[in-house]
Amino acid sequence: MDYLFKKLKMNKITEFIKKSPKAELHLHIEGTLEPSLLFRLAKENNIQIPFSSINEIKAAYNFKDLESFLKIFYQGSRVLLREQDFFDLTWAYLLKCKEENVVHTEIFFDPQTHVNRGVDFNLVINGIYKALKKANKEFGLTFGVIMCFLRHLDERSAFKMLDHALEHKDKIIGVGLDSSEIGHPPKKFEGVFKKAIDHGFLTVAHAGEEGPPEYIWEALNFLKVRRIDHGVQCLNDRKLVQKLRNDQIPLTVCPLSNVKLCVFNNLNQHNLKKMLKEKLMVMVNSDDPAYFGGYVNKNLIESQIALNFSMDEVKTLMINSFKSSFLKEEEKKEWIKKF
Ligand code: HPA
Ligand code: ZN
Repeated sequence: MDYLFKKLKMNKITEFIKKSPKAELHLHIEGTLEPSLLFRLAKENNIQIPFSSINEIKAAYNFKDLESFLKIFYQGSRVLLREQDFFDLTWAYLLKCKEENVVHTEIFFDPQTHVNRGVDFNLVINGIYKALKKANKEFGLTFGVIMCFLRHLDERSAFKMLDHALEHKDKIIGVGLDSSEIGHPPKKFEGVFKKAIDHGFLTVAHAGEEGPPEYIWEALNFLKVRRIDHGVQCLNDRKLVQKLRNDQIPLTVCPLSNVKLCVFNNLNQHNLKKMLKEKLMVMVNSDDPAYFGGYVNKNLIESQIALNFSMDEVKTLMINSFKSSFLKEEEKKEWIKKF
């Protein structure tokens, strides 16, 4: 009886997760490249890939850390060449949003991954943006585009990307920082973030995914970020937890990503529940869903089961996704009212 009751309650929460409106704030558009599209584009663009079947791809998507993932991720991105490729990639993700009741999404793109192999910046942003506009027109999805600098490259290269972004100021709301974290502290990009802020871009940065709490401090103090992407290492620094709680700085947590990249051994050991108990401004995101095995709903559902979240905790996570977004205050209120 107890078992039956538990199962019924679980189904109720699962259904609630699926049907509730959600915002996604940590999503790399290149990380939504599903194997079927990867194969099609490799063929059409005549790009050699080291896989001959979906099964081979699945076997290769076994990562031991961030670095081992990024190698495969950048390799996959090589099949994206034409504006239509970026449109198709983005459109496929947006249909997924519609299916999952993600009503607002703020997506990252990595221009250096494309420009550095000869792809035109304009074509990348135009392909992505056209798909977003179509989704807005057809099913009312709202969105923001955040351009990320690759932190394993130098700041000079990031400045060049910022110059490109300035020509697309109407399409890009902010800048971020991603790629290999350890050995590339946020401070390295202080200058380019300052220039971005001076031009009115919002700022975010990956920090404390694998790297130390010190990198979170640096992102806050030197890059003046409005959100921290991941941030799960913050619990190792009590002063930092206090600061993040007092200022309610959003941490865009990605549970399935963290398990796939061995930041936590399994979902039961994820610290998201602890972060909620610390009253931190956390929510659930999918990061690179095609590589990590699930979009937002799966991230929420599996975390709820593994960490035994109550209905209230689930609601808090979903409300936090709107609170932490770059939507206008009135728009946030409208969505939050629905809970
Ligand atoms: N971390 C850092 N860089 C990335 C990630 C991530 O999770 N996904 C794509 N680029
Ligand atoms: Zn990420």
